[in-house]
Parts: sequence; structure tokens; C-alpha cells
Amino acid sequence: MRSDGSDPIREAARLLADRRNAVALTGAGISVESGIPSFRGAQGMWAKYDPMEYATIHSFMHSPRKVWEMLSEMVSVCGGAMPNAAHKGLAALEEMGVVRAVITQNVDGLHQAAGSRRVIEYHGNLDELICVYCWKRYPTLERWIPGAVPLCDCGEILKPNVVLFGEPIPWLAQEQAEEEARTCGVLVVVGTSAQVSPACDIPRIAKESGAAVVEINPEETSLSGNVIDIHLRGSASKVIGRLIERLKETDDVSPGH
Ligand code: APR
Repeated sequence: MRSDGSDPIREAARLLADRRNAVALTGAGISVESGIPSFRGAQGMWAKYDPMEYATIHSFMHSPRKVWEMLSEMVSVCGGAMPNAAHKGLAALEEMGVVRAVITQNVDGLHQAAGSRRVIEYHGNLDELICVYCWKRYPTLERWIPGAVPLCDCGEILKPNVVLFGEPIPWLAQEQAEEEARTCGVLVVVGTSAQVSPACDIPRIAKESGAAVVEINPEETSLSGNVIDIHLRGSASKVIGRLIERLKETDDVSPGH
């Protein structure tokens, strides 16, 4: 409860209970509590690696060894990470019939590891490598050696099946994500600075299609002042935990209803 008497968690829980067909859009912030740094901000990956030098398809094609320095760090950090209470909370909300899908910008696979069934990987996933010449695919851990550049049987360099700057979003993922945004009752935006397009357009698409938009972030973002209806300030695990508690108090959302 805020000093002005408003209770945003209660409001958000009420929205979710009333509308039920909620979709979540997640970013790096949801995995910070799993030990994976976000991208922006003082501790972010881009503070260490200039994304225009280390994360564009242009830089990958011209300096793959250099780009693999950054990619290797991501593969090892994500490889050792476990889903946290926020990932598990979204999976529980799916089980409760409140959240029907997760659109994630993350490439760490932690939503699936937490038990979420419908996950749209908007920026791909690190657990697969693809040859940029013959398109052959390999499980990352089959070909990746820390510090080395993984090669395809054709001899060319392999790239993780993630979207680097300058690459298009996988067509199916973009179609599915926009369809979920157009038809959801509530979009819950968790842990994204919403600075990267076209992912940052998803909240606007949902809003223009009549959905309520709820944001979970310890900070304000570029969305906060405009498309957001309710801003829940705090860490993803804490806020999602409190939302679930409130929902369980709401008599028509207890598990199995
Ligand atoms: N819980 C919730 N949100 C958090 C937490 C937390 N514990 N910790 C940080 N955040 C918030 C930050 O306040 C910030 O708004 O998460 C956001 C992370 O923002 P970014 O680092 O910009 O990550 P993201 O929005 O996912 O980046 C989008 O940009 O670099 C590319 O392809 C990359 O998918 C990525 C895309």
C-alpha cells in the first residue's frame, strides 16, 4: 500500500484475475537474479563490450574471433545459470491459467528450464550453433570450447542461433509475438529497458489492441510514462511473488480453477 492509499499490486492482481489471458514480455532484468548480467547499466555486458564492435552481424562476419570473445562469456555465464523465483513465478502463473505465453528477449533458456511451456524466443537461443555458410546446426555444448572459435564440418565458423544487431527477428517468433500482443488482455513487461526495436514495439501493439500493460522493474523505463498502466517497482522475483500471493487470495484464481 502506498502513502496515497493506492495499492498497485492489488490493482495488477485484480486486472490479471479479471482478464486472465495475460502474456509476459521479458528482458535481461529477469535473469539478473540468476547471475546473468543485463546489457545496459553500469554492470551491464555493454559496459565491457561495445555492442557495435562485439554484437553486430557485420562485426561477426568480419572479426568472428573477436566477437566470440564476448559470445564465449555469454555461453559460459548462461550455461551455469539456474532459473530464479521470477522465472518459476511466470511458470506458476501459466499453471494457474493466468499467463498463457512468455515472449522473451533473453537467449538463456531459463523460462523453459523453470517449466514455462509456451515461450517465444524473440532473439533466439544460445544452446544452438549455426553455420553462417552451409546453415548446418549443432548443439552448442557439442562444438563450443571456452576461448576457441567453434567450426562447422564445412570448415566455416559457427555462430550462436541468436539475433545480433543488424539481423532480422526470426519470422515465426515475430509473427507469434505480435499475435499474442494483439490478442492478450494484459501484457506484463518484466525487466526490459525497452530500448531495442522491434521488441520495444510489443507493448505499444498490446496497448493499441486494448490490453492493459503492467511493468515490473526497479527503475522507470522509456515505457513507464506512456504505454504503462501500472508500474510495479521492484525486483522481478519479489514483485511476481507478491502478485501470486495476491492472486491466490483472489477467490476465483486459486490453482485448478
Ligand atoms: N528485476 C527486474 N528488472 C530488473 C532487475 C531485476 N532484478 N534488474 C535490472 N532490471 C531491469 C533494469 O532496470 C533494466 O530496465 O532490467 C532492464 C534490463 O535492461 P537491458 O539491460 O537494456 O536489457 P534488455 O531490455 O533485455 O535488452 C534488450 O538488447 O542488447 C540487446 O539483444 C539484447 O535482448 C537484448 C536487448
